[in-house]
Amino acid sequence: MNILQNIDLRKYNTFGISVVCDFFFQLEKTEQLSDVRAFLQKNPISFLFLGSGSNLLFLGNFHGLVIWNTTKGKREISRDEDHVVVEAASGEIWDDFVSYCVGNGWGGVENLANIPGTVGASAVQNIGAYGVEAKDSIVEVFAEDILTGERFAFSNVECQFGYRYSIFKEAENRNLFITKVCYKLRLQPEICSVYDAIEERLTQKKIMQPGISDIRDAVVSFRNEKLPDVKILGSAGSFFKNPVVEDVVAEALKVRFPEMPFYSLDDGKTKLAAGWLIDQCGFKGYREGDAGVHDKQALVLVNFGNATGKELFSLSQLIQKTVFERFDVVLEQETVIVDSNA
Ligand code: EPU
Repeated sequence: MNILQNIDLRKYNTFGISVVCDFFFQLEKTEQLSDVRAFLQKNPISFLFLGSGSNLLFLGNFHGLVIWNTTKGKREISRDEDHVVVEAASGEIWDDFVSYCVGNGWGGVENLANIPGTVGASAVQNIGAYGVEAKDSIVEVFAEDILTGERFAFSNVECQFGYRYSIFKEAENRNLFITKVCYKLRLQPEICSVYDAIEERLTQKKIMQPGISDIRDAVVSFRNEKLPDVKILGSAGSFFKNPVVEDVVAEALKVRFPEMPFYSLDDGKTKLAAGWLIDQCGFKGYREGDAGVHDKQALVLVNFGNATGKELFSLSQLIQKTVFERFDVVLEQETVIVDSNA
């Protein structure tokens, strides 16, 4: 088993934070999980499952074992008249999976094109964009307990998906390594272009009857305009979740801020736009040293080069405090903060 030591994680996290981990292992096949288990039984240290590192912020060096998941493989496992079920290894790059589905004419994930991360993370996070979430197509998630070797299969319902949420985020499940995810896709795709920006983009291009590849292309061009290219500017996508508040709170805010965007949910709650709240506080394009706020989307924190995790974290706290003072709304991080000293 090839366990490396003292590895700089800069190229393993899209924020580009330079921190060192004590131990590092590249997991290429799920069968290697038994080796990892043996190592952790001998050395009871902290561990971290790492995919593309696109949704985390390291606050300092990681004292423990980083398990870098590069497992690969995707295949059709069944189909009926209307659907195909496709299984993908958790380490597959999410956008490659989207291309594979779109390329085969299978609909359901095209609105989620160009999201950084892995297939495993798509289930943990229940990734979402432009009116679609991963949970709309996931049928089953397979996992293995890294410490006991016990294997599990979770149905969609058992995953308890919510807005950027699944049970895999709970501390009690922190030992569960997701091995593969099954997606059920439509053979006769239904287009979801409810999101105004997509609709506008299609109209601009005079596409009246879009196919899934048109949707994918519109999403890609839209994301490229709004979100930084992490190869050039480090970021982890939306740093905060859009806050969900009771309808009464939203009503009161509407009176004070009539121009504020609101999204009514079905359950007596309303989702607010964190990006708008942060923008209104004047943070768009704000910069402190190398830690900053993206100039095209205020929900995205960026590393201009050599920001530390702590600098970005303290900027995030300043944003939370300012938004709370102005709007009385609490912003929760979407990005996972990794602090092995905590
Ligand atoms: N807005 C501003 N200023 C900003 C940013 C946004 O006024 O700087 C306003 C927009 O004009 C719009 C509203 O806020 O009225 C919402 O903005 P947008 O449509 O850009 O989407 P978002 O709510 O900021 C969410 C997801 C994104 C996803 C987009 C598109 C979260 C936390 N973020 O962003 O997901 O791509 O919708 O569906 O839910 C991610 O999770 O990393 C991510 C990028």
